[in-house]
Amino acid sequence: MRLCFPLCLLPSFLFSCLVLLPQGQFCPSACVCVDYHTVDCRDQGLPSVPNPFPLDVRKLLVADNNIQTIPADFFIFYGDLIYLDFRNNSLTTLEEGTFSGSNKLAFLDLSYNNLTQLDAGIFKSAGKLIRLSLGNNNLADVDEAAFETLDSLQVLELNDNNLQSLNVAVLDALPSLRTVRLEGNPWLCDCEFANLFFWIQENASKLQKGLNEIQCSLPMENRRIFLHELSEASFSECKFSLSLTDLFIIIFSGVVVSIAAIISSFFLATVVQCFQRDKKV
Ligand SMILES: *[C@@H]1O[C@H](CO)[C@@H](O)[C@H](O)[C@H]1NC(C)=O
Ligand SMILES: *[C@@H]1O[C@H](CO)[C@@H](O)[C@H](O)[C@H]1NC(C)=O
Ligand SMILES: *[C@@H]1O[C@H](CO)[C@@H](O)[C@H](O)[C@H]1NC(C)=O
Repeated sequence: MRLCFPLCLLPSFLFSCLVLLPQGQFCPSACVCVDYHTVDCRDQGLPSVPNPFPLDVRKLLVADNNIQTIPADFFIFYGDLIYLDFRNNSLTTLEEGTFSGSNKLAFLDLSYNNLTQLDAGIFKSAGKLIRLSLGNNNLADVDEAAFETLDSLQVLELNDNNLQSLNVAVLDALPSLRTVRLEGNPWLCDCEFANLFFWIQENASKLQKGLNEIQCSLPMENRRIFLHELSEASFSECKFSLSLTDLFIIIFSGVVVSIAAIISSFFLATVVQCFQRDKKV
């Protein structure tokens, strides 16, 4: 059901051409305004986000297009959005502030795009998010503060990206997390991975298939193994390297103490000597 018509040919006619819907709203020509609050623009070959929408749009479907950016002021205009399906587009970056004003957004699907990194606080204005899909991108770098303030987030999908490591602080920042997808990444099971391994081991119930679905490659050998083949003992060398640091601190403080002892005994010896000399005189 199409509620408006692409009548405009010249921008100067734009105003007269905006076809007002009965509710005083308008609908972009490539889209179908399903009801008062739902706009469907899927699979239209769109190179950018069509404009304008009804300002009170709550559910926007723009999946399967070639959209390269989410406009910086997007949520300033469409702050009522609850559901945004941006799956299968050509996003490569998310600009800082993109989600300013998105304080009702609960569902965000950015899967099947070409995102490479997530910066600190990028979603910080989207504090009501419940589900965030970032699978099938090219993510290699997720800042440890990327998901801070997402207190309601229950489902996080980071599967099928390019992640070799992930700071567990990313996951520990999500108090409501129930499901996380991490499979399909080229994880490197080195010492940096140890903390993530312990997290996954203890929180395996949050992964759909537990440890069985995730693979990582061994740093020295050119071999991928499933996480269930690993145990805490596999990372014992990492613990050893930690205790080496401790050992170093102990040795270092020992040296400091001995130097202090030598200096003070030298000082004492000098004092005693002077005292004896005074006595002789
Ligand atoms: C992405 O969208 C295109 C159409 O733009 C479609 O042909 C393709 O199958 C879609 N891919 C996925 C993974 O959904
Ligand atoms: C994603 O980016 C890579 C290079 O960073 C490029 O080769 C690839 O074609 C891009 N894919 C899409 C779907 O835009
Ligand atoms: C399991 O998840 C909870 C919640 O994120 C976290 O507090 C805990 O430290 C995790 N376990 C490990 C071993 O990291």
